[in-house]
Amino acid sequence: MYYNLQKHCKLVKGATRAAIYDFKTGKVHSINQSAAGLLSACQNNALEDLWDMSSSESTQYMTFLNKLEQKDLGFFDETSSASLPERSLPDSPVKLEFLWLELTAACNSKCLHCYSESGPSRKELDLVPHHRWLSLIEEAKAAGATDIQFIGGEPLLYPKWRDLVIKAYEIGYDYIEIFTNATLVDDDCIDFFKQYNVSIATTIYANNASVHDSVTLHPNSFTKTMNAIKKLLEAKIPLRIASIIMKANEHEVPNILKLYEELGMPDAYPDVIRPTGRGDDQHLLPTTYTKPPIKPPFYTDETSFMASQTYCQCLAGKLAITSTGDIIPCIFARNQVCGNILTHSLAEVLTDSPLQQCWHTNKNQIEKCKDCEYRYACTDCRPLAQGNDPNKSWLAPPAACSYNPYTGEW
Ligand SMILES: C[S@@+](CC[C@H](N)C(=O)[O-])C[C@H]1O[C@@H](n2cnc3c(N)ncnc32)[C@H](O)[C@@H]1O
Ligand code: SF4
Ligand code: SF4
Ligand code: SF4
Repeated sequence: MYYNLQKHCKLVKGATRAAIYDFKTGKVHSINQSAAGLLSACQNNALEDLWDMSSSESTQYMTFLNKLEQKDLGFFDETSSASLPERSLPDSPVKLEFLWLELTAACNSKCLHCYSESGPSRKELDLVPHHRWLSLIEEAKAAGATDIQFIGGEPLLYPKWRDLVIKAYEIGYDYIEIFTNATLVDDDCIDFFKQYNVSIATTIYANNASVHDSVTLHPNSFTKTMNAIKKLLEAKIPLRIASIIMKANEHEVPNILKLYEELGMPDAYPDVIRPTGRGDDQHLLPTTYTKPPIKPPFYTDETSFMASQTYCQCLAGKLAITSTGDIIPCIFARNQVCGNILTHSLAEVLTDSPLQQCWHTNKNQIEKCKDCEYRYACTDCRPLAQGNDPNKSWLAPPAACSYNPYTGEW
């Protein structure tokens, strides 16, 4: 008699423990080292060959296997399914889907934490000529991109931003978003957003001017942003609001959540500043507010299980272009420059190995995670892990996880 894992299950071994990934329920079940050893042995051997079926040891093993059967994770059978072919990993090249265009490094605010280090005196970093932005929008569409975000700095300070939006609209992007501090949004902009199907993302740091403006270092910015938010909502322009938490505004979290509710925005857990640009400063970190740590329960499905063995599910298909023309895999991954758009075509960059390597970063390459049984269900943010690492390694494990796969302890 043999014992097989169900077809909808996979056993993933870690350095000490292992996990059964159940694609039917989406649950990831942690098992200890001896249970993992037992299941591995069962994959190739009849149970009668593994132990004496009348021994007390056998009762213990069979109890465990029966428990798995009750959970629909395994089954007893006359044959072994070990010889069944494994599904092959995805090998098709990753296609471009999402593009950030950082139109300008200039900004009318000078936020304490700004990852792009934007501010009023940063205009000299705007090196991409207008015709290049226009051609890029076309090249990216031709390469498969469906979604585009115009960001900065403050994108509305880029003199011909409307031209670029019109271009994206005319060539058929599915989703066009502008990420703006909204201080420059007037009635005319709102008519334009409506006409060209533009969605807006903006940011608030508090529900009051004194704290918000102490983060932006821009007097009256709270009033201007809130006025714009109200107008955008009245005009039914699709809007999302981000809030970033640092020491200066950590006591504002309940007020921010209340404000979201008053504005009819979905509940969201504000993010903590990331250690990039001006945000890479210990003094800015909140003292009590934290994001939830990485820990079980983890969930899985077969597609993401397969995909996560080949590439980073967050980064793959994304690309950001800074105002200097640098190509980076994500707006926060400022250290991972994969080329420059002033010297290369987008097609060249997309096939070049630096970008492909970033897209194909997976947990089998990450220190510590590569030996963890949760590695194909647990996602992380590479630029965040890199930013928190003293050596700024792209392959550093995330700081928000206390798991030690070598001892099996949290
Ligand atoms: C760089 S801004 C550009 C768009 C616009 N100027 C604005 O502030 O909404 C985009 C978003 O990044 C956030 N951000 C900037 N620096 C950050 C950091 N170090 N960590 C996390 N988010 C950051 C801002 O708070 C804002 O929500
Ligand atoms: S976070 Fe946005 S508004 Fe603040 S300085 Fe950076 S680009 Fe400007
Ligand atoms: S972050 Fe790494 S070590 Fe922690 S649970 Fe996820 S894969 Fe495992
Ligand atoms: S989660 Fe991290 S890698 Fe993904 S888009 Fe956000 S910052 Fe970039």
